[in-house]
Amino acid sequence: MGDIRVGLVGYAFMGRAHSNAYRQVPFYFPELETQPVRKVLCGRSEEPLKAAAAAMGWEETETDFDALIQRDDVDLIDIVTPNNVHVEMAIKAAQAGKHVFCEKPLAMNLAEAKQALAAVEAAGVVHMVCHNYRRAPAVALAKQMLEEGLLGTIYHWRSQYLQDWLLDPQTPAVWRTQKAIAGSGALGDLLAHSIDLALWLVGDIDRVCCDMETFVKERPPLAGIDASLGTTAAAGEKVKVDVDDGVVALARFANGALGTLEATRFAPGHRNYNFFEVNGSKGSIRFNLERMNELEYYNVEDPVGRQGFRLIQTLEEVHPFMGVPEGGGRYWPPGHIVGYEHTFINTVADLLVGIEKSESPAPNFADAVKTQAVLEACDSAAAAGGWAEVGKG
Ligand SMILES: NC(=O)c1ccc[n+]([C@@H]2O[C@H](COP(=O)([O-])OP(=O)(O)OC[C@H]3O[C@@H](n4cnc5c(N)ncnc54)[C@H](O)[C@@H]3O)[C@@H](O)[C@H]2O)c1
Repeated sequence: MGDIRVGLVGYAFMGRAHSNAYRQVPFYFPELETQPVRKVLCGRSEEPLKAAAAAMGWEETETDFDALIQRDDVDLIDIVTPNNVHVEMAIKAAQAGKHVFCEKPLAMNLAEAKQALAAVEAAGVVHMVCHNYRRAPAVALAKQMLEEGLLGTIYHWRSQYLQDWLLDPQTPAVWRTQKAIAGSGALGDLLAHSIDLALWLVGDIDRVCCDMETFVKERPPLAGIDASLGTTAAAGEKVKVDVDDGVVALARFANGALGTLEATRFAPGHRNYNFFEVNGSKGSIRFNLERMNELEYYNVEDPVGRQGFRLIQTLEEVHPFMGVPEGGGRYWPPGHIVGYEHTFINTVADLLVGIEKSESPAPNFADAVKTQAVLEACDSAAAAGGWAEVGKG
């Protein structure tokens, strides 16, 4: 099929992660029929955009998103901007006939997410949302083990996504603290990842009970007045924080399992602790991103006196993403670890396979609508102080 020419919009944190993935995929996945070309980097300000394009190996730049999607030499639009413009851009890109890859959360709310799904389906383009943690080899192994029934009947999902970067009240407001741009705080930023994994590994969630809090209610503006914060604060004035700093939720899965989910930016000592555990009738598995090359597994059928969690290093050729089709290792010899960036490389590789086959790889926009429905139910439950049905606002 040849090259897939990418137009990437946004060029900061995720811009770097995605650029690196496009750069590395041909090296690590040479068997793919399609390979990405870093064609056009899109952003609002010419000077930093050009510097970013040069640093990250993009051929050209474009400051007008509408012009980007009209180009004949771009096949895939990758959206790594703040959340408020995801859906508008995704819809426009789909209507222009481009495949769409979008960062999470897909949308600001459920109605928007459904509009995005309708647009990509109407256009018949390939779509995917970047919940990259699904493609950590240990997480993909967890999925395999669950599908093989190794855990039996699932009783519990338990997840924590903990960060601490907002702990200091003097940390300035950023777009992630502003509802108009982020949609929500720890909820859409962190809990969305855990919800995506919970839906994938355990199944649909019927209802949630939720509470959330904004611990620091106003913050200094970033470098004075920053238009990108969507604030009109005058110099010296504090900016109101109108998103959640931390969120806790209970969940009832359709298959009867019980879930607890927690996400916060106020857990000192946790920079990016992404943990989950699944308990079933035949055993347990647990994952912690800080030790992302390991999956812990407890099997109730191990002999009494020899029972205990075993540590599986997911660094063998037989593990997901770690081997090549003709045999041999994809990355390094067994035991030589992989890292955060490999989750993006693996994700982009699957996206390219999806484009080859004209199939939208999971999590696609339909999966993201389900995640968004749980996020919205969390919001409703927290506002009402009780349980909320998923998908019923
Ligand atoms: N998959 C993950 O693990 C993960 C991790 C971090 C962020 N994200 C998601 O990625 C997205 C971007 O986050 P980030 O951390 O890279 O943010 P960031 O602030 O580091 O970068 C945002 C980029 O978007 C650009 N931008 C801002 N508003 C824009 C607009 N209206 N039009 C065009 N460009 C605009 C900025 O100039 C910047 O280049 C968010 O949706 C976030 O939730 C996902």
